[in-house]
Parts: sequence; structure tokens; C-alpha cells
Amino acid sequence: MKDIYILGIESSCDETSASVVKNGREVLSNIISSQIPIHEKFGGVVPEIASRNHVEVISNVTKKALKEANMELKQMDAISCTYGPGLVGALLVGVSYAKALSYAANLPLIGTNHIEGHIAANYITHKELKPPFLCLIISGGHTHLVHIKGYQDFTILGKTRDDAIGEAFDKVARVIGLGYPGGPKIDQLAKEGEANIPLPQTYFENLDFSFSGIKTAVINLYHKNPNLKKADLAASFEKAVTDVIVKNACKAAQSLQLDTIALAGGVSANSYIRSRFLELEQTNKMKIYYPEPIFCTDNAAMIAAASYYHYCEGKFSNLELNAIPNLKIGEIK
Ligand code: KG4
Ligand code: ZN
Repeated sequence: MKDIYILGIESSCDETSASVVKNGREVLSNIISSQIPIHEKFGGVVPEIASRNHVEVISNVTKKALKEANMELKQMDAISCTYGPGLVGALLVGVSYAKALSYAANLPLIGTNHIEGHIAANYITHKELKPPFLCLIISGGHTHLVHIKGYQDFTILGKTRDDAIGEAFDKVARVIGLGYPGGPKIDQLAKEGEANIPLPQTYFENLDFSFSGIKTAVINLYHKNPNLKKADLAASFEKAVTDVIVKNACKAAQSLQLDTIALAGGVSANSYIRSRFLELEQTNKMKIYYPEPIFCTDNAAMIAAASYYHYCEGKFSNLELNAIPNLKIGEIK
């Protein structure tokens, strides 16, 4: 069979990225221009500034991705871009750029769902991974527990009713003075602390999540007891949110009789969360997968990887493709 090369473009939040991926799993290049230093001083992503920066760098990032792959645009089989969910102005930059490239080079265009990209990041790291499996997508914008029945066949089993888990990490970090993005900083600090502060955990009848209660409890505790050790707070927060995601994932795996759980999204880079899931390999004989750290946070390789399965099924977008900020998983426009 002919090899398929896809140029992926990602611009849904604060990373501008372009990547060339062969046959959906082999990454030939993955260039990421992060805006973290730009947004750091505001304590979070400023949408308009994000869009302006995407516009500035997207062309160079894409040129570098092709150069590093040692390929030319005309050698691509398709161009894929994230068209949702995400910040509308940021998404529009990648969508418009991908449409222009597709038109100019006469190549098929594939609008790709960002969350499906996070799932596909696992296919890059684990060449043997195939559906069916359970995927826990934990990122700055999303917390979804999804039954991956096929490459393009998803059932959402549970999702957050308020904050995304990464949002809770970032807000707690900001309040206790660790800066943005808070996830990696809490990850480091928690290693020096004890999870000895009891925090409320929320469970529902179904597999939905809620993190705002835990987040508010940590913030209130910190304001009332400024002498509490920050490392203990960080470790206790991390343990509380991890207990919830591990319990819900196990409940889902049991009821669907699945023995494979894949983690995805920026928060799946967290070392404590990884270690708690890895314990399940020993105790429950589960198989646990997660992407390499560089493919956990936003990147274009995961977008190219996800779009490969659209390509195989002949599902292409036309030049009317628009950004959809609240695009749902499995929804195709
Ligand atoms: O997947 P991602 O890059 O963007 C979204 O699609 O939302 O995830 C970014 C999120 C941020 O909330 C960041 O704090 C979190 O991932 N994150 C982490 C770690 N690395 C990134 N959270 C906890 N521990 C980490 N090591
Ligand atoms: Zn993401």
C-alpha cells in the first residue's frame, strides 16, 4: 500500500504547531512554537494575543516542519487542521492557513477535532495500540472519559460538569503563587509534600466529574491558613483529583469489561497521575498507555495522526470549513 503523508496544523490555544506524519503513526517532524512565556505574565491565556501570535509564526512553523521532514508541500497527501474545540480566534488562524495551503497545492483538506487528536497521540507512542479501549482525556480545557470503540467511533461515558482538571491545576497554582501553567509546577512541588490534608471529592451516579469543589476547598484552606505547607497542599490536591479519575476509570473499565486504559491530554504528563494508573497494571491486571510528554500537551503530530483515519475513510472537508469553538467529540461538520 502507498505511504500516506499528512501535514497537520494545530492552533487551538497557545501553541502553534505543524507536523508531518507518515501513515498516521510515524512522526517525521513536529515543530511547536509555545506562547507560554507571552501569557505567563497575565496568569493565563489572553485569547486575542494568542491569535495574533499564531498569525505571526504559523508560516515559519509550517516551513520548518516540512524542512525537518525533508519533504515538500506537493509530496503531502492531505493537509489537516484543528477546527475545534478551542479559542475561536486562535482556531481561525490554523483553519484559514490550512485552507489556503490546500487550495494552493490542490490537496485534500481534513478538519480535525482537537480532542480526537489527544486520543490519537497514543497511537504515535504505542504503535500496537488499537481500539477498543477506554481513554481518559485530561487537559486544560477538557475532562472526558471515552469508550473508543473504533478509530472514529466514540461514546462519551463521562465529562466534567464544571472545571476541566487542568483548569483546576492552573487555578490552584495561581492562587498559591506558583504561576502559569500551574500543572507542571504542582507536579514538581507535590513531590516534596505529604498528601495529609483531607479534601472533598465529588462522585455522581454516572461517570461525570466535578473539580470545582476540590479547587475551592484548596483555595479557601490556603487563604485561611497561610502557614500551611504549599507542598502538602499541592500533594493533597493532586491525590484528591487523582482518586476521582482513577475510580471513575476503573468503574467504566469494569462495566464495559475493558482491560486497556489510555491517558491523554496535557495533565496526563503528571507523574503522580501516571504512577497511580500504573499501579492498576499490578493490582487489576490492566494495560495502561500514555503518550510521551511532548505528545501529551498540544502538538500538530496528534492532529495529523487523528486525521489519517479520516483520510482512510475518504472523509474530507471543503473550503467552507469553519472554526467551531465548542465542537463535541465524534461530531463531524
Ligand atoms: O492538552 P493541553 O496542552 O491543552 C488543552 O487542550 O487544554 O493541556 C494543558 C494543561 C494545562 O492545564 C497544564 O497545566 C496541564 O495541561 N499540564 C499538567 C502537567 N503538564 C501540563 N498538569 C499536571 N501535571 C503536569 N505535569
Ligand atoms: Zn489540548
